[in-house]
Amino acid sequence: MEIFAHRGSSGTHPENTLPAFREAAALPVHGVELDIHLSKDGELVVIHDEKVNRTTNGKGYVKDMSLAELKQLDAGSWKAAEWAGATIPTLAEVFGVFKDTGHILNVELKTDIFPYAGALEKVARLAAGQGMEKRLVISSFNHQDVQQAIHHQQLPGAILASNILVDIAAYAGTVGTKRLHLSLPYALRHGAELIGKGCEVYVYTVNRLDYAGQLQQLGASGIFTDYPEKMLMELK
Ligand code: G3P
Ligand code: MG
Repeated sequence: MEIFAHRGSSGTHPENTLPAFREAAALPVHGVELDIHLSKDGELVVIHDEKVNRTTNGKGYVKDMSLAELKQLDAGSWKAAEWAGATIPTLAEVFGVFKDTGHILNVELKTDIFPYAGALEKVARLAAGQGMEKRLVISSFNHQDVQQAIHHQQLPGAILASNILVDIAAYAGTVGTKRLHLSLPYALRHGAELIGKGCEVYVYTVNRLDYAGQLQQLGASGIFTDYPEKMLMELK
């Protein structure tokens, strides 16, 4: 079962920052997951929420701030004083961390609340420019963007879902993928049945070893965890 560091090694480091990604890059995990928004001036930035409030010392929407403004913010202190000075990284900076590693990069497009027109095309262009396109998986709760990634950018795409859907296996076929990134409750309840229908099931966010063991038993393809090092050591 593949292990992905969720938002980098986010249990021990500030999520979606270079320290969290450097930590993950040093581990023999399969890959890393990260979240993408667009700044006011159209730069791809790596942060989870639409607003900077929770994970920085600033306030407001990412979309209303330029990259220069976002770069002024401290994205580390909220986690612990030792991470003071960490900033919101650009996607290019994160690609740089993984340039010479074999890790898969799962870029989650946060385009379900604000559409961030052109974000997918920017990700694809940047990845091609940095030679990362073979190591990219695009996921989103915006399944139209997943479909675009598959059909227009020739990138592997995964459907993110937490609401329990009627016949998601058939739906995934319509989108053009077998790959489902499901919430933990969804996967525990329906994972085995969906794997039986030919889906590849990846599960977020799995921080408990007992759940990881159950998912491994039922044939899940991978997990997203905030504690990749712990999972590496303890999962057989
Ligand atoms: O991509 C898996 C997971 O990260 C999706 O949910 O809210 O943690 O981005 P969220
Ligand atoms: Mg995510």
